[in-house]
Parts: sequence; structure tokens; C-alpha cells
Amino acid sequence: MSDGTGGVDTTVAHNARVWNHWLGGKDNYAVDREAGAVVQEMFPSIVEVARADRAFLGRVLRHLAGHEGLRQFLDIGTGLPTSSNTHEVAQGIAPESRIVYVDNDPLVLAHARGLLTSTPAGRTEYLDADARDPAAILRAAAGTLDFERPVGVMLLGVLNFILDTDEAARVVAALVDAVPSGSFVAVTHPTLELGGEANAKAMAFWNENATPPITARSHAELAGFLEGLELLEPGIVPCSRWRPDGVEVGAVADVPQFGVVARKP
Ligand SMILES: C[S@@+](CC[C@H](N)C(=O)[O-])C[C@H]1O[C@@H](n2cnc3c(N)ncnc32)[C@H](O)[C@@H]1O
Repeated sequence: MSDGTGGVDTTVAHNARVWNHWLGGKDNYAVDREAGAVVQEMFPSIVEVARADRAFLGRVLRHLAGHEGLRQFLDIGTGLPTSSNTHEVAQGIAPESRIVYVDNDPLVLAHARGLLTSTPAGRTEYLDADARDPAAILRAAAGTLDFERPVGVMLLGVLNFILDTDEAARVVAALVDAVPSGSFVAVTHPTLELGGEANAKAMAFWNENATPPITARSHAELAGFLEGLELLEPGIVPCSRWRPDGVEVGAVADVPQFGVVARKP
């Protein structure tokens, strides 16, 4: 029997909802706003991180759909629908684009219809699945995506919730194995290498008070996930510095979140 909440726990802050709060959205609860405010106080640049991450998503999609000709995307760790979701950007360039979204947060599932507003020529699908189970994701995604043709695998802000680095590497490897040459993998990931002590303390607070637990990773660890792939210029950089558009020289600030796009040769 349903308890009417759809499995949404409003007593503990959840990442998808706090991320939505930092992005200025309304799909969150008091517990999320409270935890989000404490993190923001400890680590003020978190709001810049969230915005820079979304802006990176847009630039990467415009590159992949606009310049590389990609028409299929597997977006794992989608987050709550916001403006410029993956299908809106990709189908804005090529209406026939197909997008499979994957998240394991019950509130994202409840809002998934916001992610399913495909153009008639394309398709969008939502999978309620765990990033740690790439085999299940790939099986279900095959109903929408053609794995004989290149796919853009989007892993933005999600590998950081797979705490074991070897497991995260296996997840990336399984996804890369499943897509053909000419596919791309885009990753954003928090790091302490650009954020210092404040970020470490904010993450420790998060891990004691919110869910799911998170970890930061180094440039070298991220490079390890992408071994054997060709990194697009400028490589692994603060995501705000990945091919920024329309800003004056000197106006782009570093954020403690790496961004990278890699091509499967
Ligand atoms: C920081 S948000 C990033 C959202 C979006 N990709 C972006 O860049 O704006 C991380 C998302 O990953 C989801 N997530 C966390 N752990 C996950 C897991 N094991 N499997 C699937 N999704 C997960 C969360 O529910 C949340 O929606």
C-alpha cells in the first residue's frame, strides 16, 4: 500500500533536492534548504559550482550535438528537471535526438514527466536505476538507444556518489565498453584540489547529515577513469573553464568541480 509520499523521505536532505535548491528551484523541502544553507555557509562557492556544472552541460551538449553530430544521449544522475535539460538542448539542435535519463532519487522519478517532453521526431525515456548497476541501465536503455551508433554518456556530478574508486572506474569502463567508437563521455566531479579545506569540511558535514554520501577525487583519479579515451581540449579543468563562451578574458572563475569530455577512439 502506498504511504502517499512515493518513497520520498522529507526527514533527511537528499542531494537531488539540495542541488535543485542551489540552482534556485522549488522542488525541495525545508530539510534540504536547511542542509543546503549550512553547506553554503561553510563553502560559499557551492552555488557557483552548481551553476557552472549546468552551464558546462549546455556547452558540452551544444558541442556534441552541434559539432560532433551526436543524436543519442545517456544522462546518468540527471537531477530534478530544471531549465535547459539535456533533451531540450539536444533536440533544440537536432529534434530527432534520443535521450535516456537515469536517476535513483524518488522525487526525480515523481518529476520525470518534466523530462519526457520529447519532440515528436525524437524520444526521451526515464529509468529509475542505480548508477552502480550499469548492466541494468544498458539493458533498459537499449529500448530507446541504438548502441551500434555513437552515444554521449553524461556523468555529471554522479560518480562522486560511488564512493569506492575502483567501483566507479568499473562503472565508467562498462559504459564505455557498451558504446561504439565515436561515442563521448562527459564527466563533472568535485575535487579538493581546487577547493581546499572548506570543501572538505562541507563534505564531512554532508556525509553526517544528508544523503547519499559524497566523495571528492583528484585530477589523477579522474584521468584514470578515462584511460584509453581521447580527452578533448582543454582536458580535465575546472568545469567553468571547459570551452567557456561569450565571456570576456579574465571573467571566468575557477570552481572546485572538474569537467572533462572524452572520445572513444
Ligand atoms: C549533483 S546532482 C547532478 C544533477 C545533474 N547531472 C547536473 O549536473 O546538474 C546528482 C544526481 O545524481 C543522482 N544520484 C546520486 N547517486 C546516484 C546513483 N547511485 N544512481 C543514480 N543516480 C544517482 C542524485 O539523485 C542527483 O539527482
